Amino acid sequence: MRERTFSIIKPDAVKAKQAGEILARIEKAGFTVVAAQMRRLTKAEAEGFYYVHRERPFFGSLTSFMSAGPCLTMVLERDDAIAHLRDIMGATDPAKAAPGTIRKDFAASIEANCIHGSDARETAQFEIGYFFPGIELIG
Ligand code: RTP
Ligand code: MG
Repeated sequence: MRERTFSIIKPDAVKAKQAGEILARIEKAGFTVVAAQMRRLTKAEAEGFYYVHRERPFFGSLTSFMSAGPCLTMVLERDDAIAHLRDIMGATDPAKAAPGTIRKDFAASIEANCIHGSDARETAQFEIGYFFPGIELIG
């Protein structure tokens, strides 16, 4: 089923000038870019975005990393977009990511792992609305 997901090319990948290569992977995997904006998150925006992780020990470090430089926020569309983006991203820890996945090929560490993708319908809806209010989950 055709659906939309939310993705961020994270500050580590933008700084390394890998955003274009990562976006090319995403497009080759059949996604259409519905919306895209470069932005530098404030610490508070990163905290709101990753609110589900507020009790985790890495929350402070994660939100500092995510607000340390510009990132590319995007709404992406494809059949089974949410699950498929997670597949091509690979595991959170690049050391555990499968060969050929984006994190395996571009990420440096479990935190600086180059890309975010929504993990479920409800999270995609929240995350799209958080950065692109007015854009629907299903186009
Ligand atoms: P994301 O939300 O960014 O797509 O990543 P994910 O689902 O694969 O992983 P999640 O568990 O949601 O963690 C969110 C982000 O927090 C950082 N992290 N650091 N130091 C650590 O142990 C640790 N664990 C996670 C990563 O940047 C991860 O993507
Ligand atoms: Mg996650």
